[in-house]
Amino acid sequence: MTNSRIAGFYKKTLDEKLDALAQASDGTRPDFGLLTTQQADKMVENVVATHNLPLGIGLNFKINGVDRLVPMVIEEPSVVAGASFMAKLARKGGGFFATTSAPEMIGQIQVLEVADIHAAKMAIYEARETLIAEADDIDPILKKLGGGARDLEVRIIENSPIGDFLVIHLIYDVRDAMGANAINTACEKLAPRIEKLTGGRVHLKILSNLSDQRMARVRCTVPVASLAFDDFSGEAVRDGIIEAWAFAASDPYRAATHNKGIMNGVDAVVIATGNDWRAIEAGAHAYAARNGKYTSLSTWGKDADGNLVGTLEMPMAVGIVGGATKVHPTAQAALKLMGVETAAELAEIIVSVGLAQNLAALRALATEGIQRGHMSLHARQVAIAAGAEGEMVDVVAGQMVAEGVVRIDRAEEIMREQGLVD
Ligand code: MEV
Repeated sequence: MTNSRIAGFYKKTLDEKLDALAQASDGTRPDFGLLTTQQADKMVENVVATHNLPLGIGLNFKINGVDRLVPMVIEEPSVVAGASFMAKLARKGGGFFATTSAPEMIGQIQVLEVADIHAAKMAIYEARETLIAEADDIDPILKKLGGGARDLEVRIIENSPIGDFLVIHLIYDVRDAMGANAINTACEKLAPRIEKLTGGRVHLKILSNLSDQRMARVRCTVPVASLAFDDFSGEAVRDGIIEAWAFAASDPYRAATHNKGIMNGVDAVVIATGNDWRAIEAGAHAYAARNGKYTSLSTWGKDADGNLVGTLEMPMAVGIVGGATKVHPTAQAALKLMGVETAAELAEIIVSVGLAQNLAALRALATEGIQRGHMSLHARQVAIAAGAEGEMVDVVAGQMVAEGVVRIDRAEEIMREQGLVD
């Protein structure tokens, strides 16, 4: 049984951290490896190198009663610490409670030049069963695992720049895959029959990244007393968070930033597991605008006892088989450390981290402001940029934070004043 609470993790050396992870999980040190240039060369074109990013561990996560150590890949300071701290607070309310829908992706088939668009729509529905059966056969392995074509929907797109046309949505259960290949293949396979049935010309055949039939949802409750810190009462922090959320719920300018904070957590896990973060981003923002006005992906309110309650709902098309998830050694190690056995479990972890990250940002913004927390970590980056190395980094960063001046010129000055450089 994994234990996601590791005291003083951030103070440990790199080596000690890996030992602590082993102790807190299955006894083996995670081997995050490195994608070699040779492996990378087989993944994309014109490869000359690989590009590394920091991988930190999100701590304290309890999701549906199970502790999870969560690898997060991100270049931005404060995100891993913020998510871990908020997971600790959420834990006091039982942790995160997450669910997923069936892993159903949508494939789109665009049909142009149809003489009678309404009759063509009916013709597709009349052939629904056989079309589904045909699509179902394209991937025998997926079918054996319980996946396959589930449904067809026909939409009429009116008044487009080229006039009206038909769009068929093929709903496909892709189980533990991200599913792009299966759904695209199925759409291409159906195209000739759809042309015959409609008398039209099939144009695009491609999945939709607005995968709103493949949703992940999460809820957490933070006891109001645990929100108190410094001079801020729990009630003041809670109400400040709710007021901050109301801003995002009502204003797209704020919602974009609010959701960006959620995606700080979401993308970090998506990237760690080798999944397609552009697909997740596209789905998230399209979903946030689904009612015609861009809004918050999360909600924040209070329960009958005055505790803070947060929820997050978003499309989550991630897989644990195929693609980079299988090829990338770090992605494999990340899935292993999390103890993830299905794509649904991974999706539940991802939205929990997104909600925790959202809470971290709102709590900071609603109280002391974002810069204070950011500054100490940012100061380390500035110190490194100024040439500080080893222990020098913390000395220089610490002094800049104490002075409230975090700038590269000041870092250089401190290094000279302290005799750390000539
Ligand atoms: C920064 O990466 C993310 C925040 O701007 C999110 C937010 O404003 O809610 C802090």
